[in-house]
Amino acid sequence: MGITSEKLSASKLEEISRRKYTGDGIGYLTSDPYYGFLMNLTKELKPDLVVELGTASGNGAAHFAQGGAKKVVSIDILNTQEARDRCKRFPNIELWKGNTNSPSMKSKVKKLGKIDILFIDTEHTSEQAWKEYEYYSQFANYVLYDDIILNEMRDFWDRVPEPKLELNHLHTSGFGISW
Ligand SMILES: C[S@@+](CC[C@H](N)C(=O)[O-])C[C@H]1O[C@@H](n2cnc3c(N)ncnc32)[C@H](O)[C@@H]1O
Repeated sequence: MGITSEKLSASKLEEISRRKYTGDGIGYLTSDPYYGFLMNLTKELKPDLVVELGTASGNGAAHFAQGGAKKVVSIDILNTQEARDRCKRFPNIELWKGNTNSPSMKSKVKKLGKIDILFIDTEHTSEQAWKEYEYYSQFANYVLYDDIILNEMRDFWDRVPEPKLELNHLHTSGFGISW
């Protein structure tokens, strides 16, 4: 997809978020329905580039990759064996070790060019989410956010100025998308 492609409507995004998720291709089903949305949105948008802030065990990255993203860059301060094992069958995933707040990481990501889907999912404080949003979303077409109703994250979410949609049926601690 091109960064200038026409955006999906809120009702289309809502419909995608309600699609059945079978865990196809990943080999397991996770308990959080938002993983199905990552895969189904990717199938719909056919992104060239997805950037995920916060890899953890690689579940998110694996779902973007299985959905057909050309390239998935997933960033975490840790680079765990579990994430490497989960992601190694996907040649379209790059695991980058580093801090999303560091100037060197910021300039590395900037060099990637336009990001079709950005997923903000590191430390769930309003301050950290805002720092990531302010810098990384300038390159992004769609931005996904996990845990938007967890503690103080609501303050952060309320400040996001773009058109946005809450998809809280995807995660008990909330899930959002802006575009
Ligand atoms: C909620 S988990 C990510 C889950 C993953 N996105 C998924 O859906 O499967 C959060 C991760 O963010 C990482 N993290 C926290 N602060 C970070 C930072 N400043 N820079 C990079 N990674 C960070 C943690 O190490 C942790 O693995």
